Amino acid sequence: TYVVTENCIKCKYTDCVEVCPVDCFHEGPNFLAIDPDECIDCTLCEPECPAEAIYSEDDLPEEMHHFLELNAELAQQWPVITEMKEPPPDAEEWDGKPNKLELLER
Ligand code: SF4
Ligand code: F3S
Repeated sequence: TYVVTENCIKCKYTDCVEVCPVDCFHEGPNFLAIDPDECIDCTLCEPECPAEAIYSEDDLPEEMHHFLELNAELAQQWPVITEMKEPPPDAEEWDGKPNKLELLER
């Protein structure tokens, strides 16, 4: 499966959702999650993310492994998103900022 990681938080560019052929993206207030039961590993979303927040499970750095469980959990709770929308106005300022996990809204 593919996994959305920390740098998506408060950036939420949504470019990723447009290319997903199986609608695995789910939208929360300031983060997106991929449903691991729907993802077919097509690879298309990874290069689309301007924040480089999407990884293949196989390439997921050790320190980001907790995002696997988090994506699975949040994808169950949040609605599907299939169309790109405007990112938050301050998305660029948050790109690359550390410790964004504590800012995740549910
Ligand atoms: Fe969707 Fe493909 Fe990305 Fe999986 S790898 S989330 S199927 S675009
Ligand atoms: Fe997030 Fe990147 Fe998609 S910032 S919403 S994973 S394009």
